[in-house]
Amino acid sequence: MNSLSMPAGSGPERETEREAATAMGRSRASLLRGLWYLAAPARNLRRGEMRPVTLLGEPVLLCRDRAGAVFALRDVCPHRGIPLRYGRFDGETVMCGYHGWRFDRSGTACEIPSLLPDQKVNLARIRCGAYRVAERQGLIWVFMPEQAGSAIGNGAEPPPVPEMPGLPETAMPGIVTSMAFPCTADHAAFGLMDPTHAAFVHTSWWWKRNARKLREKTKHFEPAPLGWRMVRHALPPENRAYRIFGEDVTTEIRYALPGLRIEQVQGSRHSAVGLTAITPVDAENTRVWQIFYWTLPWLAVLKPLALVLVRRFLDQDRQMVIKQQHGLPHADRLMLVNDADMQARWFDRLSREWERAQAEDRAFANPLQPQTLRWRS
Ligand code: FES
Ligand SMILES: [Fe+2]
Repeated sequence: MNSLSMPAGSGPERETEREAATAMGRSRASLLRGLWYLAAPARNLRRGEMRPVTLLGEPVLLCRDRAGAVFALRDVCPHRGIPLRYGRFDGETVMCGYHGWRFDRSGTACEIPSLLPDQKVNLARIRCGAYRVAERQGLIWVFMPEQAGSAIGNGAEPPPVPEMPGLPETAMPGIVTSMAFPCTADHAAFGLMDPTHAAFVHTSWWWKRNARKLREKTKHFEPAPLGWRMVRHALPPENRAYRIFGEDVTTEIRYALPGLRIEQVQGSRHSAVGLTAITPVDAENTRVWQIFYWTLPWLAVLKPLALVLVRRFLDQDRQMVIKQQHGLPHADRLMLVNDADMQARWFDRLSREWERAQAEDRAFANPLQPQTLRWRS
């Protein structure tokens, strides 16, 4: 078996080491468009508030109106280009701080204060632009359309808004936190689906102190919408921690474009969902979100401690990508080796297929096949 050969039946996966290395070496910032991105936790945006965020290099202004509905404008005034965030929001429309032009939730001008009654301007043609927004399960998602800057109304219908399994639409996360990673979205995403760094990176006195004792793992995977999933399997009943969920505790991990990892633990009494979401700020910077939901009410008391631990964990990943930046400019070629790196390769293939489908104006076709991967971690 050469270093990248795969178990039988994985025909399309058979690439030479050179080909795979090239795919990874190209590790460009793929700012995939035509997808939903996690922009902010719902609780960070109160009624009558606006909040600027940068998504895929575009300035976006999130606003929650008086009635509680969220909308998103392109955060640039079409008059002289000043960001609208420096203006004012009355809970209905956003007024630019420079000359007072006012924009509604569709991103269309609705008032230009300097105009006299006999000076006619077609306001409907003056637009800052707006984005599709969805608020689900305590999270605000923004759809980044295929064409940059074109905002609402172009291109194909968006794919479904990402949803956390087994939870109602009104579910609120118990923990929401994020960190700025100074790396491309690809490198942040590879970190998500890399099963073998944990033993070396996520070590501490309270968690896996004997980190280097590697154990053999065998996991089954199958294609899923916009990605793949690790097939649901039982968690070891001898691990007492899982008993808080009840009997027959199982887990499923799903990975999807544009960089989502959704893990669900389900028992006879309770369930928990963890979401990691990669949101590119621009080509070189990425926000990594870590979010947890659970149905065990008493867990709320552990929230402050859990938040500290979650942030510590996330920061361990962040420190690695900071160090990685010191080497990347000198690395002409990177490698994806064997089963341990297979998911990174799947992600790369899916990203390329997504871009190709858009360029060829056709439906995305998931190129993955069911497969079993083995590694030591
Ligand atoms: S720059 Fe916005 S109203 Fe003039
Ligand atoms: Fe990690």
